Amino acid sequence: MDLSELKKIPVILDGDPGHDDAIAWMLTKASPVFDILAVTSCNGNQTIEKTTNNALRVCTLLGIDAPVARGLDRGLLTDPIPAGNIHGQTGLDGPALPEPGMELSQLGAVRLMAKALQESEEPVTIISTGPQTNVAALLLAHPELKSKIARISMMGGGIAYGNWTPAAEFNILVDPEAAVVIFNSGIPVQMCGLDVTEQALIFPEDFERIRAVGNQVAVVVAEWLEFFYKFHREIGYAGAPVHDACAVASLLHPEMFTIRDLYVQVETTGEYCRGMTIADHYGVTGKAPNVSCVLGLDRQAFADLLVEAVKAYDGWEVRV
Ligand code: RIB
Ligand code: CA
Repeated sequence: MDLSELKKIPVILDGDPGHDDAIAWMLTKASPVFDILAVTSCNGNQTIEKTTNNALRVCTLLGIDAPVARGLDRGLLTDPIPAGNIHGQTGLDGPALPEPGMELSQLGAVRLMAKALQESEEPVTIISTGPQTNVAALLLAHPELKSKIARISMMGGGIAYGNWTPAAEFNILVDPEAAVVIFNSGIPVQMCGLDVTEQALIFPEDFERIRAVGNQVAVVVAEWLEFFYKFHREIGYAGAPVHDACAVASLLHPEMFTIRDLYVQVETTGEYCRGMTIADHYGVTGKAPNVSCVLGLDRQAFADLLVEAVKAYDGWEVRV
């Protein structure tokens, strides 16, 4: 089939790049299936100033030519929780990146997302790889646009355990109230929580397969993985968990993943469990499933997908 005839999936990328966000965006741009309408930064692993700067640089590196807008600088009811121990002081430490090759949109994230939805003929998929503040603010400000959203594919949560507290995963903990808005929105939600993303390990030998592809993006991705692995190696991981790329890969290749529809809610109070995502495994609430929970994956196929994806950047290079 001629790829130019393919009906594309319009997407908005909302994230806090971040090494694994950047790799998720690399995978999105590499696939002819997606049409990136807009990119929005969110407060997450670093301040909104830093994640916005990183978003501009990553889009420049990857040749993403969609408008980029700055997101909200804190959660709906919460203060930021920087994660410099994982992604470094810039939020994306490691290889040198190009200076931003585009201007930041005059619109803020919520207004840019609303505009992209209003102008799209097809319902749009939102790929959320950070705290869900911007997406929740969009839904609160523009409930009339819900029907323009095909689904929200998100990295966040985990129905077995947390990583920032024993109960809560980072993206949800940063803004649990935003996650409640998403989960109760009635929009199809696909959640890649820690259950799957901690199986999405890219091993050091995979870094070398990626580096060996040899183009500029491949080399940068290999270095991002090396940086991201440093922290995880120290706490016993066999590879770098590329959490956020699952939110893209599970759309592209659902057959690689184990997915189960469950009723999921978010704990917003509680001394120990704020930010926890709780799934009704046995249907005891009698509530209909509201989330497609991605629970497992074929690790080798996922690693191979990333190696193939960087090949799409052969012949593309920007000045750093
Ligand atoms: O808990 C994993 C999430 O937090 C990912 O989105 C990753 O980018 C990190 O900041
Ligand atoms: Ca992220």
